[in-house]
Amino acid sequence: MGRLDGRVAVITGAGRGIGAEVARCMAREGASVVVNDLGASMDGSQSEGTPADAVVEEICRAGGKAVSNGCNVTDWDATEALIAQAVDSFGRLDILVNVAGIIRDGMIFKMDEKQFDSVIAVHLKGTFNTTRHASVYWRENRGGQYRIINFISGSGLYGSPTQPNYAAAKMGIVGLTNSCASALVGYGVTANCIAPVAFTRMTESLAGKSTVMDYSPDNEKISVANVVPPVVYLASEQSEWLNGRIIQAGNGRIGLFNSPAIEREVTTPGVWDMGVAFEEMEGAFKEAVVYPNPFRKPKS
Ligand SMILES: NC(=O)c1ccc[n+]([C@@H]2O[C@H](COP(=O)([O-])OP(=O)(O)OC[C@H]3O[C@@H](n4cnc5c(N)ncnc54)[C@H](O)[C@@H]3O)[C@@H](O)[C@H]2O)c1
Repeated sequence: MGRLDGRVAVITGAGRGIGAEVARCMAREGASVVVNDLGASMDGSQSEGTPADAVVEEICRAGGKAVSNGCNVTDWDATEALIAQAVDSFGRLDILVNVAGIIRDGMIFKMDEKQFDSVIAVHLKGTFNTTRHASVYWRENRGGQYRIINFISGSGLYGSPTQPNYAAAKMGIVGLTNSCASALVGYGVTANCIAPVAFTRMTESLAGKSTVMDYSPDNEKISVANVVPPVVYLASEQSEWLNGRIIQAGNGRIGLFNSPAIEREVTTPGVWDMGVAFEEMEGAFKEAVVYPNPFRKPKS
């Protein structure tokens, strides 16, 4: 018995890296999967092969059920067809995993418009496209145990200095996920984020450089296999209690991020006097603001 027997999943960006491992593992757990991947170079500027076909072949050889889709997630019509392909091929859609991604790094003062727009298009618009089309199907077929699982990043949560485009796209996905978590729960859909860490082509340049983690191909803790268990959990019917949250996955850890909440506040009965607001903010907040991220330490 698989943990996802009878369930149908669409996984974007599943030709390589984490997405491919999610597809293989979901198929092993009994899901029928639509493996989407455009075969993009890491900056999204070129197509390189047909990695989705290779993953489908591998899954089918191992006795699983999978079909391939090569669409670009930024394409509205093509993503509508991607969702339809799941229903046409396997009769239903239960799980949508948005993994597709590119990076085009640069400091904010050097970033051009194309660098920004292209990264927003793949991550944020791509996630919106698939989610919007899937939500139409789920609204028409309410009563299932439907799941949206969106890949985000510590880059946005903590503020990577060289990735303003990527950080913004990923935090946009957090807002999109929260909105869907509220809007769709009545239709049986939960929506959560995964913040992964794994050794893939996206992170291989960090090998030997990161002070936080050992990113190297022979560190099994940082393998893509360590990202997958919480993703499969979220995809299963068992996770219906979990909605609108961010789960950390990778490096041997599964974490639950806290939800944004007011930590401290100061109040006034009327309209703030500017001087009082300055004083009260410093008095109440300053000692609570720590700099756990080395990138964000103020100059001393
Ligand atoms: N690897 C990490 O440590 C890490 C950390 C934080 C977040 N992430 C996120 O996890 C996800 C997977 O990353 P990965 O490390 O496996 O990267 P990867 O580059 O190995 O895989 C990404 C896949 O997305 C595909 N893709 C790109 N643009 C596409 C498009 N327009 N349409 C369809 N497919 C497209 C690529 O062809 C590629 O196969 C990404 O969203 C990434 O931002 C990864």
